[in-house]
Amino acid sequence: MHDQHDRRFSGRAERLRSPERIALLDVDRVVELSLDGIDARRVLDVGTGTGLFAEAFARRGLEVAGIDPSESFLELARRHVPDGTFRAGTAESIPFDDRSFDVVFLGHVLHEVDDPVRALREAGRVARRRVVVLEWPHVVEDQGPPLEHRLTRRAVERAAREAGLGPVEFTRLPRMELYRWAIPQGRGADA
Ligand SMILES: C[S@@+](CC[C@H](N)C(=O)[O-])C[C@H]1O[C@@H](n2cnc3c(N)ncnc32)[C@H](O)[C@@H]1O
Repeated sequence: MHDQHDRRFSGRAERLRSPERIALLDVDRVVELSLDGIDARRVLDVGTGTGLFAEAFARRGLEVAGIDPSESFLELARRHVPDGTFRAGTAESIPFDDRSFDVVFLGHVLHEVDDPVRALREAGRVARRRVVVLEWPHVVEDQGPPLEHRLTRRAVERAAREAGLGPVEFTRLPRMELYRWAIPQGRGADA
């Protein structure tokens, strides 16, 4: 059996920002779809790494925060996004209050976490409007993680149901898969 931590990205930080990866990830389109149709002001980038997506959200004028278990990645994220708030933390135990962010984004992270159900439940807890997950498709490719580390669409959707998220909106991008869940409004005092 795999040690869960085998799944964690262990490459060099520069690889997270290589031009090839940025093109593959379709960063601007992903950010656009994450914000589409909602009036978002605050976003949390879970598993932010070097802050690639946090930076793209900040370019759109959003207030951004990011968490990651890796202090060395967080240092780089702070350099790239000086106005962002970056804290050490894991997706399974997000160090922010309930409903603190309009959008909670997990970019290439869900397949690395120890407990996807807990991670999605936590994302739903701190989100006010939407939870977004960007993942690799479940196919063998030269780039990205090996097949056994990738999540099937069925596994992601099952984890989300168990986490109490509602119906999913699934989008197949040229090289990636994007999942969006709306947070029901009318929950909590500020709804
Ligand atoms: C492939 S990198 C993606 C980084 C960034 N989202 C991006 O797309 O550039 C995966 C990131 O998830 C982080 N990570 C691993 N396990 C995590 C967990 N349980 N909770 C939050 N982040 C985690 C890693 O430290 C790493 O920064």
